[in-house]
Amino acid sequence: MFAKIVGTGSFLPAKSLANSYFESYLDTSDSWIQSRSGIRSRYVAGPQDTVASMGVSAAKNALQSASLQVQDVDLIIVATCSHDKIFPSAACCIQDILGAHDCPAFDIQAACAGFVYALSVARSYIESGAAKSALIIGSEVMTRTIDWQDRRTCVLFGDGAGAVVMQAGDKPGILASCIKANGCHSSILNLNNMTTIEEKSDKSPYLHMDGASVFKLAVNKLSQSATDILRQANMEPCQLDWFVPHQANLRIITAIAKKLELPMSKVIQTVAEHGNTSAASIPLALDSGVRQEKIVPGNLVLLEAFGGGLAWGSVLLNYG
Ligand code: ACO
Repeated sequence: MFAKIVGTGSFLPAKSLANSYFESYLDTSDSWIQSRSGIRSRYVAGPQDTVASMGVSAAKNALQSASLQVQDVDLIIVATCSHDKIFPSAACCIQDILGAHDCPAFDIQAACAGFVYALSVARSYIESGAAKSALIIGSEVMTRTIDWQDRRTCVLFGDGAGAVVMQAGDKPGILASCIKANGCHSSILNLNNMTTIEEKSDKSPYLHMDGASVFKLAVNKLSQSATDILRQANMEPCQLDWFVPHQANLRIITAIAKKLELPMSKVIQTVAEHGNTSAASIPLALDSGVRQEKIVPGNLVLLEAFGGGLAWGSVLLNYG
């Protein structure tokens, strides 16, 4: 039994915020943000938008593009680190709103790497025969985790959701997946859970990131991960039709593409308009590539992500 992606979908909040907004109250500039990160604007969730509501919209789009009904779904996995509840999970909230039956539904928390972790887990369910049709969602409201006075982080993140439907099939779809983590780097990228922190604690409620350290590790680990996964599948980077990396920083994306000797014309880029949407960034970018008819059935596609944990991973697939 093989696992293949048969549908994609996404949702972006109505409000898009340009870099110029931050110039109005912080010591920063559009040119600094663009030159250091490639970001021009990001979407910001409205009061009515939640991880669950955005995930539901993306999931409905993905189901529609796969021509499937919600009753067909027998597994729901949500990658998120910004759901507004410890429990029920975002997956259970989404299951309820969608009206899906009593299938397993759970969240995966690997920060920005969450979606490749979720794909990898869903692949195992499908290849083992434990599920036939899985809904895998990445949904984040990262703008509610940042300190809007901290110029080092607030200019980088955005909100949104993306989803894919994965099904069992007789031809290889997911060719290889590889997920890794190393908790020893947790101090350079983290977000405290304020519900378990004592009142007088001096711990920050906001996302903390040592950007330069994360940057170096991201380039290093993701280049290695790409090389490893292609070797596992007996393939060369030049055989790739598309590279869909986590959209955190254009300079990280460019550095990895250069190491793989991949032209930027083969890289799906949404960071300029979306910013870093954490676990939502890959399914948003994938859906954008599919809807623009860049990624078409039969294409060889490499997905890669890196995030807090530190956690990272890659998925190599034949699309459609
Ligand atoms: N505007 C103007 N100046 C700024 C800003 C800003 N918005 N932010 C930082 N600076 C300043 C710093 O204070 C510093 O000044 P100093 O030298 O006087 O101290 C200077 O700019 C350089 O700062 P750096 O952090 O070294 O800048 P860098 O070139 O590394 O770019 C960035 C910063 C964009 C954060 C980059 O390091 C990056 O993208 N890192 C990786 C982020 C990432 O991949 N995250 C993924 C995971 S996120 C997750 O898992 C949730």
